[in-house]
Amino acid sequence: MTEFSQFPPAFVFGAATAAYQIEGAWDEAGKGPSIWDVFAHARGHISDHSTGDVASDHVHHLAEDVRLMRELGLDAYRFSVSWPRVVPDGRGPSNPAGIAFYDRLVDALLEAGVTPYVTLFHWDLPAALQERLGGFTNRECARHFADFAQRVAVTLGDRVNHFITLNEPQIFTMVGHTSGVHAPGLRRPWLYLKVLHNLMLAHGLAVQAVRSVRPAAKVGITLNLIPVHPREDTPADRLAAELGDTLFNKVCLDPLFRGRYPDRLMHILGRFAPDVRAGDMETIGAPLDFLGVNNYSRIRAYHAWWVPFLKMWFSGMDLAEEEYELDGVQYTAVGWEVYPESIYQVLTRDPADYGHLPLYVTENGAAFADRVEDGAVHDRKRVAYLQAYLGKVQEAIQAGADVRGYFVWSLLDDFEWSSGLSKRYGLVHVDYRTQQRVIKDSGLWYRDLLRARAH
Ligand code: FCB
Repeated sequence: MTEFSQFPPAFVFGAATAAYQIEGAWDEAGKGPSIWDVFAHARGHISDHSTGDVASDHVHHLAEDVRLMRELGLDAYRFSVSWPRVVPDGRGPSNPAGIAFYDRLVDALLEAGVTPYVTLFHWDLPAALQERLGGFTNRECARHFADFAQRVAVTLGDRVNHFITLNEPQIFTMVGHTSGVHAPGLRRPWLYLKVLHNLMLAHGLAVQAVRSVRPAAKVGITLNLIPVHPREDTPADRLAAELGDTLFNKVCLDPLFRGRYPDRLMHILGRFAPDVRAGDMETIGAPLDFLGVNNYSRIRAYHAWWVPFLKMWFSGMDLAEEEYELDGVQYTAVGWEVYPESIYQVLTRDPADYGHLPLYVTENGAAFADRVEDGAVHDRKRVAYLQAYLGKVQEAIQAGADVRGYFVWSLLDDFEWSSGLSKRYGLVHVDYRTQQRVIKDSGLWYRDLLRARAH
């Protein structure tokens, strides 16, 4: 059992979700379609042919879901606001019913003693902006995002103190715009840095927008940070790993905290470099209050002749997206290696890489195949995973990392992007036929851990 005396007294324990993954009600009460609605409705994108039309139906289970959070004893809940629910076309008039939903959610959370952490963009871009402007391939999209961020800060900022501008801009860019596996489904690798730059600008402008109406708000961004290790200890693989770190991690960290994109990357990408205009880097580098870190696993990189130095190997990706064990190493249901050390490594990176900011683990968790048996879910692998990773968070704090909180991904089973409803991460099981919720053993374990801390 992890000893809680070792966590700082104000340490925040929570759980996270994202709008498209749990809300459902995709076309109700004035909501506009998002790129994920369009993407999931088109054939061939989602492995189990499901959509987020209903998902965990959170919009209609708001009160119950907040009750569950109270039962688990969460200090905090990280959720995202659906841009097209609040601004159906992405720009232009707001949707009062959409705003009212988040108003109710925030009020219910506060009443339950759960602190809201609000993500402003967790990938569900209004479809109208993609169709008419080209989404984040167009720099103009950044301005519209800042405008949306300001509206959210105006309406929720009297009760919400923590805002996260973007969730994982590099993953959204890479998987949505280069491999086309996520919405908007573009396969244009040459756009990687260009799209990313527009997102980084969107982040910087949103920071200004939130601060302009809520100067006391704490504002940050969430990045997926992944240790990239050489597969073999050879100079070529070591170089591949270094480039992997640049491509995944430094590509966002450097513009945020060092005022520039990594030289190496700009050099390699040559004419595919972003269109950086005067003042952009100052906008992107606006001072922040915290950095959100999502971490699940690590990446092994190796030199491959067909993509010199850049071939990445996401541990297990070559094999089925199934749980398995190989050479004593465990892989989750999405084929990600269980490697608790990864969270320690990202949290203890050079603090200068993070602009010396306080850190929050805004996501960590695991997909495993769960079964409901007599009204219970005995997900012992998830318990072991969370225990091991949380232990490493604690070690990182002891080693000097300024970590202020930890959010499990996810509160509820949810729509896992291109895996649809087939992969489960929740502390709470959702039966998608009946929408019945059952707290899994991992949820009970988390609850007990939080209770033990209170005494
Ligand atoms: C992260 C996403 C989150 C969830 C987890 C498993 O990259 O931010 O929405 O799907 O992966």
